[in-house]
Amino acid sequence: MNQGLVEVRGVCKSFRAGDHKVRVLDGVDLTVAAGESVAIVGPSGSGKSTLLNLLGTLDTPDQGTLVIDGRNLSMMAGDELAKFRNQNIGFVFQSHHLLPHLSVLENVLVPALAQASQVGPEVLERAGSLLKRVGLEHREGQLPGRLSGGERQRVAVVRALINRPRLILADEPTGALDRASAAEVARLLTELNREQGITLVLVTHSDELAGRMDRVLSMEDGRLV
Ligand SMILES: Nc1ncnc2c1ncn2[C@@H]1O[C@H](COP(=O)(O)OP(=O)(O)OP(=O)(O)O)[C@@H](O)[C@H]1O
Ligand SMILES: [Mg+2]
Repeated sequence: MNQGLVEVRGVCKSFRAGDHKVRVLDGVDLTVAAGESVAIVGPSGSGKSTLLNLLGTLDTPDQGTLVIDGRNLSMMAGDELAKFRNQNIGFVFQSHHLLPHLSVLENVLVPALAQASQVGPEVLERAGSLLKRVGLEHREGQLPGRLSGGERQRVAVVRALINRPRLILADEPTGALDRASAAEVARLLTELNREQGITLVLVTHSDELAGRMDRVLSMEDGRLV
């Protein structure tokens, strides 16, 4: 019963580079307790995004196991995996990936629409209160193109939260933002972790953001230390 929400054991991943293979992850072990916040730091190309993509079920390891909330990711496939991802994992990337032709509110509802063909009043209310929480309630009807970079990233965080995931994976969530916006998004993520107990695993080049996490791990030679 001492299991973490996230359990990574002996994960290896290689990529083909020309005529040879490069081992990017070389036996990664990681346990993240429910409610914990962890930063992964390390040089460019060290495999941080690769690990996050494996955790997010966007890619599969060559070796090793990844378990989230007691579910072995390699035992799920297709629709089951997609459903698990949609219900349990929220993603925030360096680029907001908002759909330009949908309003702020519609963008936030996209992950909810993957679960049901229509969203109920409860989800709409949740979307409204989350947007209010990040100070964007008056922007609901606008297109993302009218928002600043920091505002867009706050919408992306709200979108990641709409299905009440237990885990948020964030890959350089403040990497494309100016100082003030970065500080705002960093504070938002930290507060969500503290107040709502959402487990947070993030990759960052920012010492300031990393310093806000419970633990900082460094990717070195394909392993976490
Ligand atoms: N799909 C892929 N195909 C081939 N090589 C890849 C693929 N994805 C990643 N790589 C390689 O794996 C290595 C690690 O990449 P990764 O994106 O995980 O690094 P990173 O630590 O996130 O770096 P950064 O800090 O620059 O984002 C790099 O050498 C990259 O070129
Ligand atoms: Mg990366």
